[in-house]
Amino acid sequence: MKAAVLREPNTSLQIEDLDLADPGPGEVRVRMVATGVCHTDASAISGAIPVPMPIVLGHEGAGVVDAVGPGVTTLHVGDHVVLSVMPSCGKCASCVTGQPWLCQVAAPVLFAGKMLDGTYRLRQDGSAVNHFFAQSSFAEYAVVTELGAAKVRDDAPLDVVAPLACGASTGIGAVLNAAHVEPGASVAVFGCGGVGLSGIMAARLAGADPIIAVDVLPNKLEMAASFGATHLVNAAQADPVQQIRDLTHGFGVDYAFEFIGRKDTMEQVIEAIHPGGHAYIVGGAPVGTRFSADALGFLFGKNVHGVVGGFTRPTVDIPRFVNLYMNGKLPLDRLVSRRYSLSEINDAFEAMHHGEVARSVIVF
Ligand code: APR
Ligand code: ZN
Ligand code: ZN
Repeated sequence: MKAAVLREPNTSLQIEDLDLADPGPGEVRVRMVATGVCHTDASAISGAIPVPMPIVLGHEGAGVVDAVGPGVTTLHVGDHVVLSVMPSCGKCASCVTGQPWLCQVAAPVLFAGKMLDGTYRLRQDGSAVNHFFAQSSFAEYAVVTELGAAKVRDDAPLDVVAPLACGASTGIGAVLNAAHVEPGASVAVFGCGGVGLSGIMAARLAGADPIIAVDVLPNKLEMAASFGATHLVNAAQADPVQQIRDLTHGFGVDYAFEFIGRKDTMEQVIEAIHPGGHAYIVGGAPVGTRFSADALGFLFGKNVHGVVGGFTRPTVDIPRFVNLYMNGKLPLDRLVSRRYSLSEINDAFEAMHHGEVARSVIVF
């Protein structure tokens, strides 16, 4: 099969022929129909997130099951699935206590290039090629673990719902699963990329008001308005924390979300909430990044939370979010700004770096 391979940091992905082993016990093989291009793939390319190479990136895949391994009971050939950035074993203490995003079997392998059992399915000329998030969806086929593939309704367009594998679910889940934002709550969203815009959609669905969008790019703020932001704050023009306070009687918001992955904006979301408010760190910062908070302000009941992957329970939440899209409640279709073929994948990263797109999707 054809796959996009990264051989060295900061180089272009090369389309190469790879071998893919049959699905093992508890695994399925998926014929890829579409896969989103996420900022975390770019972080792996740049080295901000170190990964072993050569590697096939991609972790927002969606497709059709075309083979099932021994012991698979919940998926069948022909099922439409959205793959998840949060595959899990279903059996460890984190999984059994309802936190599959912390799966103790998956955590050590997701950035280590391996499948959940510590081995490889991808090979070239007999040598192992590394996996990303035990998924590697920048390829025509992928073998994934059963609980890393969420069956979705057949009538859902896979090129629209693919970003629910990671970015869209991360934004929606942060708002609905982690924060449980209630009607009338005041919300600030820092970062209006694919993740932040998904957070804005969810805040609107939850009935939040106001919804204050923060970005440094005017075109991203325009998109934010079209997804339901009630107020727009350009952080390149003036201090975003002061602008948020000005919009909230000097007090700050109930909930603030960091959907970027930067130290300065992580510190800003903590400043943007009122005493007793809740700040959520959702963006993935480069390894080694630290942030700090004003100690006296913190003393007055500020709550700061880390939310990985929107606390998504893939097989429960992804079909739920797909239904909300199909019923007109989450405009995921407008998130997908551009479609590229696999051979054009480097152009998709260029467009991301230039801030031109909310989300690009590779279609096979
Ligand atoms: N203040 C406000 N907004 C900023 C700033 C800043 N200082 N710097 C960048 N931004 C905006 C960008 O203009 C862009 O619109 O943040 C947005 C980030 O969007 P994308 O690059 O499209 O990233 P996205 O895919 O949405 O992911 C965001 O979530 O899951 C994590 O790893 C992922 O860290 C990444 C984050
Ligand atoms: Zn991602
Ligand atoms: Zn587990």
